[in-house]
Amino acid sequence: TYVIALPCVDVKDRSCVGECPVDCIYEGRRALYIQPDECVDCGACEPVCPVEAIYFEDDVPAEWGDHRGSNADFFDAL
Ligand code: SF4
Ligand code: F3S
Repeated sequence: TYVIALPCVDVKDRSCVGECPVDCIYEGRRALYIQPDECVDCGACEPVCPVEAIYFEDDVPAEWGDHRGSNADFFDAL
């Protein structure tokens, strides 16, 4: 799955939402999140984010911590 990492927080550009063929990008209070069970790994969202917040789960820069966890936690909390 792809994940949305730290740069999205308080930016929420939303360009990614329109690119997703399965509409699996959901809006939270301060950032958007990718539903890991719905993401089909197409990669379409990644290049359109102006702040480069979107990464394949294994490629999230380490200094941003476990955003795979934070994306999944968002949906667990719903
Ligand atoms: Fe949607 Fe594709 Fe991005 Fe997954 S990788 S969130 S399916 S646009
Ligand atoms: Fe956030 Fe980038 Fe999408 S800022 S809303 S991940 S286009």
